[in-house]
Amino acid sequence: MCSVVGYIGKNYCRSIIMEGLTRLEYRGYDSAGFVCLHPQDQRLIYTKAQGGVKNLINNLENTTIDGFAGIGHTRWSTHGIASTENAHPHFDCNKNISIVHNGIIENYLEIKTKLEKSGHVFYSQTDTEVVAHLLEELLISTKDLNKAIVELVKHIKGAYALAFLIQDYPDAILLIRKSSPLCIGYGDNEVFIASDALGFAGKTNQVLFVPDKSFALVKQNKIELYDFEGKSLPLEFQIVDINWSADGKQGYEHYMLKEIYEQKKVIQGLVHKFKEIENSLWNQLGFANGIDDIRNLDHIYLIGCGSSWHAANIAKIFFENIANIETSIHLSSELRHSNFFAKKSSIAIALSQSGETADTLESLRFLNEKNIHTIALTNVKSSTITRESKGYFLTHAGPEIAVASTKVFSAQLASLYWISHKIAFEKSIINKEILDISKDNLLITAELLEGIIEDYKQDIIEKLAPYYSKFKYHLFLGKFISYPIAMEAALKLKEISYIFTEACPAGELKHGLLALIDQDTPVFMFSSMDNNIYKKLVINAQEIKARSGHLVTFAFEGQKELIELSDYSFVIPQVKTLLEPLALTGIMQFFAYQIAKNLNRPIDKPRNLAKSVTVE
Ligand code: G6P
Repeated sequence: MCSVVGYIGKNYCRSIIMEGLTRLEYRGYDSAGFVCLHPQDQRLIYTKAQGGVKNLINNLENTTIDGFAGIGHTRWSTHGIASTENAHPHFDCNKNISIVHNGIIENYLEIKTKLEKSGHVFYSQTDTEVVAHLLEELLISTKDLNKAIVELVKHIKGAYALAFLIQDYPDAILLIRKSSPLCIGYGDNEVFIASDALGFAGKTNQVLFVPDKSFALVKQNKIELYDFEGKSLPLEFQIVDINWSADGKQGYEHYMLKEIYEQKKVIQGLVHKFKEIENSLWNQLGFANGIDDIRNLDHIYLIGCGSSWHAANIAKIFFENIANIETSIHLSSELRHSNFFAKKSSIAIALSQSGETADTLESLRFLNEKNIHTIALTNVKSSTITRESKGYFLTHAGPEIAVASTKVFSAQLASLYWISHKIAFEKSIINKEILDISKDNLLITAELLEGIIEDYKQDIIEKLAPYYSKFKYHLFLGKFISYPIAMEAALKLKEISYIFTEACPAGELKHGLLALIDQDTPVFMFSSMDNNIYKKLVINAQEIKARSGHLVTFAFEGQKELIELSDYSFVIPQVKTLLEPLALTGIMQFFAYQIAKNLNRPIDKPRNLAKSVTVE
């Protein structure tokens, strides 16, 4: 949600900031803006554009706007429509202060009303603009930048990563952080700023994660860091090596397609990692007493949002069926609003591709406060969720660029499948041979995941996607372990195609959804290798056909009754029941992708969405 990028140093900043913004555009692409200090007279010079960074770069093309200190922004709208007026940077009345922001100022209306009464004029509908005007007031009353900031943070409520460029203080970029992420990269006579270290990866690996509730004055050769009371803080740099490959789409039309096809390799790489970390796993997960802590575990909380939450739904079945541990799943956006009863020997695993999702981060903090042992399962080692958890496990899927998660979803499944086997082994539920076989089964499933796409590729591209892209509503059904994969399929299709979808446990059909069944509403059913589940699904399929419904099934070889009932059936080689979701992941994603492609949607950046959701 919004990205903040900045630079101060020996080089001109425009191209550096444009590169950073382009890399972080996954965080929001409603509008973009850039402001810098004129290299000669230190005036603020800027431009903004509606839409993505490309439009901003086009705007800048025939201008000389550039300098040695600048800040940039990409926006995901919260307050005010996606327009040029609402694009950042925003300014105070005198255009002395410029500001870019990621987060939400919750009490902005209250502040705005007061400031308007004292004569301030606002040009946008954003919450951000009030901060520039408030700082203007406070600079007049305190006549001191540090004092003004200490006052400012007392007035503003919410979550914010703010960067300011101020004409009267031309030697520094001012940063203020509460909750929303912000990091500083220290280079040789130059300093980089970004919401995510990916923004300056390859330029420096010396990174300072701006601490929560602190502010910094970032100068070319010096960084001053203070807490919200104005007391100086030590600078704690970390070496962060981010593997940023600028290889782009490598010939694929979209990142999403590339990432779908990377899944096999990601799982193979993960299995290799599992072997490497086999002996250090408990340590890495932060267990002081190692195996003893694991043997005593009696409850696992799994938290996440979106696809990560769906992966948690599947992982619950892994932990309960493989490791025999009661597991509960919680949506990050809901968890901390309930009356939470902490169980004694419990752990919580926060699933997050980005490691920055605000709801998951806040739930993690909530669980930390309850003294629950928290573990981050993320794809980004330097992320806030990884840093704030007691232990971590990386999904090693490489940067995922498309907004719709694909390869990280399958990496989460593979990781949690293996971790549940590791726990089962420590609890003597399974022996070493079965633990090793779990890795082999993952490798077999990775082959299948891609093989199934290849089997149906032509059919999907030529027949199925053009046909199913014409329907306005799609329904998705599953049961037990195939229900979360139905939920994930419904999410994938709706986010990238804008077709209305709904997922439902098949057994709940008769409690409502059957009313929607007709020839214009295709039903996609995910079968299961579990014979009891399969038999019930056949009954549900008959109920649909008895009402002249249109049925598409993802069935396994030999499931004759279900295949015969279907208008179309993807017939999948048999797999182990618990690995069904992983095997079906590729074909489900590919199908959704091709439907969206038929509809000419901007697949990698669907409207209104963003990849890293850093606001609640
Ligand atoms: C957004 C993304 C989804 C993702 C969800 C959770 O909605 O578009 O693809 O599943 O956030 O993100 P996280 O980074 O926490 O997994």
